[in-house]
Amino acid sequence: MIPKTDTIIHGDCLEELKKIPGGSIDLIFADPPYNMQLKNPLYRPNNTRVNGVDDPWDKFGSFAGYDAFCTAWLTECRRILKETGSIWVIGSYHNIFRIGNIMLNLGFWILNDVTWHKTNPMPNFLGKRFTNATEILLWCSKGKDSKKYTFNHKIMKRYNGGKQMTSVWPIKLCVGEERIKGADGKKAHSTQKPEELLKRVILSSSRKGDTVLDPFFGTGTTGAAAKKLKRKFIGIEREESYVKIARKRIDSVTELWEEADWTGGEEEKQPRVPFAVLVEEGIIKAGELLYTRKNRDAALVLKNGSLKYKNTTGSIHQVGAFIQGTPSCNGWKFWYALKDDEPRSVRSIDELRREYIRKHYGDT
Ligand SMILES: C[S@@+](CC[C@H](N)C(=O)[O-])C[C@H]1O[C@@H](n2cnc3c(N)ncnc32)[C@H](O)[C@@H]1O
Repeated sequence: MIPKTDTIIHGDCLEELKKIPGGSIDLIFADPPYNMQLKNPLYRPNNTRVNGVDDPWDKFGSFAGYDAFCTAWLTECRRILKETGSIWVIGSYHNIFRIGNIMLNLGFWILNDVTWHKTNPMPNFLGKRFTNATEILLWCSKGKDSKKYTFNHKIMKRYNGGKQMTSVWPIKLCVGEERIKGADGKKAHSTQKPEELLKRVILSSSRKGDTVLDPFFGTGTTGAAAKKLKRKFIGIEREESYVKIARKRIDSVTELWEEADWTGGEEEKQPRVPFAVLVEEGIIKAGELLYTRKNRDAALVLKNGSLKYKNTTGSIHQVGAFIQGTPSCNGWKFWYALKDDEPRSVRSIDELRREYIRKHYGDT
């Protein structure tokens, strides 16, 4: 029986995957142990300890043991994938080449090797190698002849601001509010992935309502992104503490990622009113602050209709994309103004634009 969707299974994926019927899953994302083989703790030049991946779940006795483990879970993943499905496996230089070899031997067909370019990488503290700023995602169909896999080319092009997305994805490490912390203020998990990464994976290679499975669920990044994109998910995770963290995280997701939130300008057949016109008309004043939906960030409105946020200046769309770390953003849906009406209200700038259009052009 297919497990209930939107569920987290607490267990070992080697056992749990066997219980899932063949050909039942649309998309798999796997972020397996890296097998880093860290022998000694790593210290910064100021003698503070680097919080690396030294967890028990990342330890394997030998390369052969790691290969046997990966062969076992990848065999099950291939069995449960639909013919139209695909799988993404992420890894670093420590493991991705071994995994790629195993996947090819099992019959998977590589569609892309996507490079996650970490735009804020951890420095190489010993200064003995280049700063490691990448991880690789292998995106594969079930086999050479499985040609009907989902790829949402047009959606990804729109998401990328009208340009084809390449296989290099500049995305920052999971930091700030997105990073889940324990009661001690330290990272709850050493390898939490950024939601932006999972957004691209799920958005590009599944449809609304599809089932996305993640056999190494960790903090549940895949589940959170799937929920925001209206996909179903099944997560498998061996450590109970992570299961609890993931459950809490996913239960608290209320935000949805809708296409209207990132496409700018092209969606409506209404008179085009640049943001600068609202500023010229005094509907939004130069010197005023605009706020993001969750009120976490604010940008200053400049006289020419640009926004200034920290050291970045640009259009409402550009600054919105910068803040979110996304390739595009529909600034009209992203920004809110605080108006001195009675009572004081928070108004979306899109609403203010629509009022302006109604006043000057009538109902369109
Ligand atoms: C690299 S982390 C995944 C992090 C996750 N992508 C996130 O964003 O939080 C790998 C996870 O797999 C879990 N794990 C390791 N071996 C497992 C197994 N055999 N079955 C299920 N989970 C396992 C670990 O506990 C760890 O949380």
